[in-house]
Amino acid sequence: MTSIKDDILTLPKIMNGTLDGDYLSIYSRNTEDVNRIVSHIDFKNKEIYAVLSSSDILFYLYLNGAKRVDSFDINPLTYRYYYLRKWLLESGFLDAEGLGIEEIASIIKSHGNARDIYERESSLFWQYYLDLKQKEKFYDESFFSFYNDALFENSSTKFSFPYREEDIKKLLDKLNSSKLHFEVVDISSNSYTPSKKYDIVYLSNILDLKATNNIKNVRNNMNNLLKDNGIVVCTNMINHPYFDFFREQIKIFSECFEYEPLDIELRGIAKAPVKYYKYTKK
Ligand SMILES: C[S@@+](CC[C@H](N)C(=O)[O-])C[C@H]1O[C@@H](n2cnc3c(N)ncnc32)[C@H](O)[C@@H]1O
Repeated sequence: MTSIKDDILTLPKIMNGTLDGDYLSIYSRNTEDVNRIVSHIDFKNKEIYAVLSSSDILFYLYLNGAKRVDSFDINPLTYRYYYLRKWLLESGFLDAEGLGIEEIASIIKSHGNARDIYERESSLFWQYYLDLKQKEKFYDESFFSFYNDALFENSSTKFSFPYREEDIKKLLDKLNSSKLHFEVVDISSNSYTPSKKYDIVYLSNILDLKATNNIKNVRNNMNNLLKDNGIVVCTNMINHPYFDFFREQIKIFSECFEYEPLDIELRGIAKAPVKYYKYTKK
């Protein structure tokens, strides 16, 4: 769980570039073709531990029959963004791009008195964000863009979200029927102790690491997080599938995992192609 006080105190520092330590930016939308991954991996009735990030992965996994998706991210603000994405879905939008300030402010404010404390606090967080944006120099409503700050990493490629209205309604029923289980976790840390075991861990681009020790830590954490025969689903932005540290990663994982590339073409998003693959626990 995250602390609203910490999240709110971090916000102006992120926006004016004075935050010490790692730069924490939120991905506004998914950066990978999750829709094609679901045609290669069966998520139905599975218990999954997935990176939260833009929340799109969580949404896709539930839309494709996952039984339960618990989530984690090194960035605590992804939890605040999850609520905003949920409210936007409830209002018929996939994200905040293209919405005018009045419209987005009204969606955010309408949750200010929510019964659920996390919704209420997240509403406060986003109201504060809008206030800070309005105080920006040269602010002009016609130039207002929700995502144009240091807070967001804009996903230049958005993959389609080919779901019907009734599917989105079922997704929202699922999201509203139980509270999101979210942990702030550095999955490459050597001091992480999982409290539960899963069928699948969904890592997204996180394994794009160069330091051998970090790769070993992720491997050990995956081993502890997964049930027997459990799988890790990965996508990596890499310069080449056999790029040096990628080969090293496969070697390190081979101690406890079977590597299998997914038959999905490499696709260039941002500056590098994306490789899709999975590791199965031996
Ligand atoms: C490159 S983004 C992937 C975006 C994703 N494809 C999506 O659809 O939203 C990686 C996400 O993993 C998180 N992350 C990066 N390194 C991490 C780590 N060591 N432990 C946990 N989360 C991490 C980032 O904060 C970010 O939200």
